[in-house]
Amino acid sequence: MSPERPLPLSLEDPAPLLQWLSGTGPEPEQLELLMLARTWVSAAISAAVPDEKFQAIYQRARKLIEQIARGENPEAVARILSVSSRTGLNRWRGQLVNSFEKIEPFANDISKALVPAAELEDTRLTLRYVVVELLRNVVQHSHAPAGGFVEADLWNEESGRPMLQLAVADAGIGIPASLRTLHPDLSDPEAALEKALWPHISGTFEEGLTGTQQNAGMGLFFIAEMAKLTSGTLLIATRGATLLLSGWTDDEGGHTLRFIEPRGVGFPGTLVVFELPVGDVADYPALIETIKERAKQRTPQRAIHRWIRFDPAPPESTVFEIQKQAENTPAAIQLAQQEITPRILRREPIVLDFSGLRILTQSYLHSLLFEPLRFAWASRTPIYVRNVEPAVRSNLELLENYALAG
Ligand SMILES: Nc1ncnc2c1ncn2[C@@H]1O[C@H](COP(=O)(O)OP(=O)(O)O)[C@@H](O)[C@H]1O
Ligand SMILES: [Mg+2]
Repeated sequence: MSPERPLPLSLEDPAPLLQWLSGTGPEPEQLELLMLARTWVSAAISAAVPDEKFQAIYQRARKLIEQIARGENPEAVARILSVSSRTGLNRWRGQLVNSFEKIEPFANDISKALVPAAELEDTRLTLRYVVVELLRNVVQHSHAPAGGFVEADLWNEESGRPMLQLAVADAGIGIPASLRTLHPDLSDPEAALEKALWPHISGTFEEGLTGTQQNAGMGLFFIAEMAKLTSGTLLIATRGATLLLSGWTDDEGGHTLRFIEPRGVGFPGTLVVFELPVGDVADYPALIETIKERAKQRTPQRAIHRWIRFDPAPPESTVFEIQKQAENTPAAIQLAQQEITPRILRREPIVLDFSGLRILTQSYLHSLLFEPLRFAWASRTPIYVRNVEPAVRSNLELLENYALAG
């Protein structure tokens, strides 16, 4: 965004819109035009549409969209371009996503549609990652019945630099409330929001999403680090606080982080905006590796608990002999769901006895322990193992690493 020409309602100055949406400020001027010109403005208002006040502006904007699509309103197009310092409108149609199964296909569609060029694969994968993580958060944590409203666009700035903006908004409970359940110390919304960007900070642990790795408390951490390691921007506005993180590429992950003034300005739900100069990610796998490395360095000591325990179990523990069903994956899933996880949730000690097994495949161990381990971590109940051969031990350690840190 060019500093010589401040944009109305730019990401640098979101307070007027946020205040209006929170009922503490006047309606910004030309809102329906801005809603078309600014992806994040549109997502924010769309998420809030059930409220009558937003319904009216939403309807006005829809009318404009139709006129523009029919070529009936060239003045509106000219105005949109002038307020947004863009040379073209390349808007991805906004959409609501409200179930877990829709997330991955949706993320594929949107990232391919916006970044089709083969040589921009690394940018596309980054976009895809951010879409998936943000929508998972909406579905898992927001309690917003309508789901998450996603908007995105890609445009050329007048400087010629192509930019990508993605916005995901929900009208849910907000990050501070979600985190408070497990982190009662985070009563201040700013403290909660800042903490949500740390590795391994999560407000809940979700049942029923088997075989995936979505609740390591790493989603927002990864997205924030992506912004830091590129010259990206991350805005998170939620109930009671808004923060803006801006990265610069010239310094290894240098960045600025600030809370938007006035204190307490937020969003009636959660709004996350991610902006990335297209092409700033040159090597997506390397980016992910760097962020994983940073996560390790920044993991506070208390989070490096080992939830698979190799030391002796309490005598009253229930023992499961694994040899009886070794490498039988369906049996492992059944054992996990019917025997292991319920005991962990009741915080009863269990022991898995691996005697007689010199080696086990990672996929078998995954079926047996991925879910139980996440519950063990969430409920702070260790899973004891015994008679573990070295090769099995390293498989168990690997499983714990990726289950809880991935
Ligand atoms: N849209 C949202 N609505 C409510 N709470 C959220 C939302 N997004 C994130 N959070 C909170 O922030 C926490 C951290 O999110 P994240 O880093 O993605 O970790 P995870 O999703 O694995 O818990 C979540 O556990 C949740 O408490
Ligand atoms: Mg998440």
